[in-house]
Amino acid sequence: MLAIENLMVFYENGLAVNNLRLKVSESEIVGVLGSNGAGKSTLMYTLSGIILDRKIKEERRGGEKITVLGAIRYRGAEISRLKPAVRVRDGIVLCPERRRIFPESTVLENLKIGATLRGRAEAKETLESVWRLFPFLFSLRHRTAGFLSGGEQQMLAIGRSLMARPRLLLLDEPLLGLAPSLQLGVIDAIRNIRESGITVLIADQYARPLLPIIDRGYVIESGSITVEGTGKDLMNNPHVRSAYFGI
Ligand SMILES: Nc1ncnc2c1ncn2[C@@H]1O[C@H](COP(=O)(O)OP(=O)(O)OP(=O)(O)O)[C@@H](O)[C@H]1O
Ligand SMILES: [Mg+2]
Repeated sequence: MLAIENLMVFYENGLAVNNLRLKVSESEIVGVLGSNGAGKSTLMYTLSGIILDRKIKEERRGGEKITVLGAIRYRGAEISRLKPAVRVRDGIVLCPERRRIFPESTVLENLKIGATLRGRAEAKETLESVWRLFPFLFSLRHRTAGFLSGGEQQMLAIGRSLMARPRLLLLDEPLLGLAPSLQLGVIDAIRNIRESGITVLIADQYARPLLPIIDRGYVIESGSITVEGTGKDLMNNPHVRSAYFGI
C-alpha cells in the first residue's frame, strides 16, 4: 500500500530523516518506535504532505530551508509532490502529535470538522461508526472538548481523523501523556480501527503497549532505521529491550 524509498529530510540545522526505507501493506498495523527527536513527526509530516506546506511557508518568509528527497509510493502512485488535501482525499489521514482538538468547540463540532473534505451523507454514516467505536463520545457529544480528560481528548482526536475516511491512518504519538490504563484504551481502539479495514502506521516511544499490537515495526534513531522486524522480533531484540524496556 505504502512504500518509502531513500527518504531524506533536511532542516536547515541538520538531517531529520536519513535514507529511510519503509513499507506498509494493506490492513497491517506498522509501528515506528523512536525516542524524542528521532524523526517520527518529520516522517509523519512528510507522508501527510504538511512538510511541503511548511517548506513553502519558510521559503516565502526567508526562513529555514527544508529539503525533502526520495520516493513515496502509495497505492501504486508517486505522491511526494501532492498537496496534503489531495492526500487526504486519497485516504492518507494524519492524527497529529499532542491531540490538536479545538478546545472551545463541542465533541460533535470537533468530529464534524474532520469530515470537511467528505460529502454530507458520507459524514453522517462515518459519524455513526465513530460513535460505535467510542460510545462514550456519543454521551459526551455536547460537551466542550477542552473539558474532556486527556485520554478522552486523544480518542476524540482519533475519532476526528476517522471522519476524513482514511484508508491509511497515520498516528503520531497517540500514547503521549497518558496513564498506562488510558494507553491501553487507545491501543484497543487502534485494534478495532484495523478490524474495520483501515491500515495503520503508528509512531510512538512507548514500546510496551505498542509492540504487542503491531504486525511489523521499525526502530528509528537520529532519522535512520536501526532495527526492523515483526512485533515479536522487536520485543525479543536485545537492543530494543535495553533501550525501551530497561532490561
Ligand atoms: N521545524 C524544524 N526546524 C528545524 N529542525 C527541526 C524542526 N522540526 C524538527 N527538527 C529536528 O529534526 C529532528 C527530528 O525531529 P522530530 O520532531 O521529527 O522528532 P520526533 O521523533 O517526532 O520527536 P518527539 O518524540 O520529541 O516528538 C530533531 O533533531 C529536531 O530537533
Ligand atoms: Mg514528534
